[in-house]
Amino acid sequence: MSQESVARRAAQLSDLLNEYRYQYHVLDSPTVDDAVYDSLQVELRDLEEANPQIVTPDSPTQRVGAEPLAKFTSVEHQTPMLSLSDVFSHQEVLAWEARMRKLLGDNFREEYYAEIKMDGLAASLIYEDGVLVRGLTRGNGRVGEDVTSNLRTIEAIPLRLRVDKTVPKSVYTGRFEVRGEVLMYKKVFEELNKQRAKEDKPLFANPRNTAAGTIRQLDPKLVAARKLSFHVYAVVTDVDGVTTHAGEHELAHKLGFKVEPHSETLKDISQIEKFLTTWENKRLDLPYNTDGVVVTLNDRKAFQRLGVVGKAPRGSVAYKFPAEQVTTKLKDIQVSVGRTGAATPFAVLEPVLVAGSTVQMATLHNAGEVARKDVRIGDTVIIQKAGDIIPEVVGPLKELRTGKEKQFVMPKDCPVCGQPLHKEEKEAIWRCINFDCPAVERERIIHFASKNAFDIEGMGEKNVDAFLTAGIVKDVADLFILTEEDLLKLERFAEISAKKLIGSIQQRKVVSLDRFIFALGIRHVGEQTAFDIADHFGSLQKFCSATREQLQDVPGIGTVVASSAYDWLNSERHQALLQKLAEVGVEPQPVQRVEGPLTGANFVITGTLDAFGRDEAGERIAAKGGKLQNSVTKDTSYVVVGDDPGASKVAKAEKLGIERIDEVAFLRMIR
Ligand code: IVH
Repeated sequence: MSQESVARRAAQLSDLLNEYRYQYHVLDSPTVDDAVYDSLQVELRDLEEANPQIVTPDSPTQRVGAEPLAKFTSVEHQTPMLSLSDVFSHQEVLAWEARMRKLLGDNFREEYYAEIKMDGLAASLIYEDGVLVRGLTRGNGRVGEDVTSNLRTIEAIPLRLRVDKTVPKSVYTGRFEVRGEVLMYKKVFEELNKQRAKEDKPLFANPRNTAAGTIRQLDPKLVAARKLSFHVYAVVTDVDGVTTHAGEHELAHKLGFKVEPHSETLKDISQIEKFLTTWENKRLDLPYNTDGVVVTLNDRKAFQRLGVVGKAPRGSVAYKFPAEQVTTKLKDIQVSVGRTGAATPFAVLEPVLVAGSTVQMATLHNAGEVARKDVRIGDTVIIQKAGDIIPEVVGPLKELRTGKEKQFVMPKDCPVCGQPLHKEEKEAIWRCINFDCPAVERERIIHFASKNAFDIEGMGEKNVDAFLTAGIVKDVADLFILTEEDLLKLERFAEISAKKLIGSIQQRKVVSLDRFIFALGIRHVGEQTAFDIADHFGSLQKFCSATREQLQDVPGIGTVVASSAYDWLNSERHQALLQKLAEVGVEPQPVQRVEGPLTGANFVITGTLDAFGRDEAGERIAAKGGKLQNSVTKDTSYVVVGDDPGASKVAKAEKLGIERIDEVAFLRMIR
């Protein structure tokens, strides 16, 4: 064959194989026998092997990359990957609707899109000029992991967008992003476990965890063998003519993605409950697990206007199925002590299978809760997975009592250090306030080193325990003065492992300010708040010397969080700890801002803008060096007044003499 006819044959084979793949994995309706597919695939592979120059990256033979990776890299999401607010009753759905009506006023148009909430893990796919170039996990929502080579192995994912004449050209040029759920179908999961049982390997707990674990495998060959699937649930990129969420699904379908086929457009709110009940009854018929339905305001523009509260969009809710419940024996009630000193009773259970995984412990929240539910040691209890994740005790079956059950008494002293527990009057939680309590210190160190904090590789719970037991670490700062010799004295370490861990600890001395603040484990300061604080103050020094009022000026922070942070910073022990961290060489990096024409300018937006939603406005401002604040403070430079502005923000701007501008003036500044 001539060079030219080889290339032509290869292109034809490639197209045909791609079509068969699509029919099989996306449409679920194959038109040829598997063997036909296989033999064409063999022919293409042979042709390519003999003529390596004809191999294209989107050839069906190129799904599995050659080499396993050493590590995934972190990549920032261009648009944050959010989560959803859960609701558990129709009443909450109605409240959600009322909120949206109020916020949108005349811009509210009643129509919803309801879809199955798939139980897998979220991933984002980025196409450049129609070709898949990157796939990311959700990570913490802002930064995900680059798992492109793993996602490429998923046959339901097109390596190149399908060409469709009705799709605007812009989709095939430049950047295009979709999001969806990586799934392991129930059948695949059962097969996998059957195989593992045969090989005497430990069984996997459930399809979701297996899918999540698989996506984090470094060897794409292994991922390919696990046969994951992918369903798109949203198109991130704005596309002309796509004005509804339903339209996003339609577009994704045209582009060759698998989309949830059971979705429906609902004309009014009353139909939502019916949709939920229908699927609650039929959920087991679906080929994958689900824990509820997602309902979204169909109008895309209104959805964007609604913006985000916390980490979830206001325009969607996850309506959860009632949790699956089972009964088991309560063997004991014990108390654990957490990072903030909270002493939490938990149930020790006769192991039992709930919603796909085995449960042997369940939280009881606090002593008041134990009393309220009247659970006693020895009871037969009902347990459920709240939101299908955290197991909790619903209550006892009192009818089955024998009279030998024992009442739980909350201990007066910390079960770990023996110091008296304290409870503030308004709180329900007893706490160990001993700064040196080993349980608290242990949790503090584990949190400090954890993935979303300092992210010290290899510094798991077992190592923390070993260091504490050996007495070579007393607080988080001690980690940084550990030496290889220290570790070699412990049984757990050999030369290579010691070197490696010391290396990864030392490497993390330079850390971003938001991680540093989150790692301190200040009560009420979660990841998002830590990020807001870092962004607001810019440097550790400024944060440390902030007054209560200055802390309250941080957008998104209220009095409770501000005072918790203030008290933390102003305790002598914590000041000593910060000092020690500095002495051992930990250097939180000041926040880097883009320099631009708006550097130093702070904006507040009130009301809705026509051009774009709040998030996008924030991104545009940041791209020019400015900052979007949540509330008007004396640092605010401009208040942008949109449609239906909030009276209090406008009044505050007036009182502080801050310049007010309309949308047109604002657009001029950011363009
Ligand atoms: S829309 C703002 N639709 O649920 C996030 N999410 O609890 C957009 N999920 O991270 C989500 N099925 O991984 C949406 N049909 C569906 C979904 C779905 C599953 C997952 C998704 C998300 C999580 C939020």
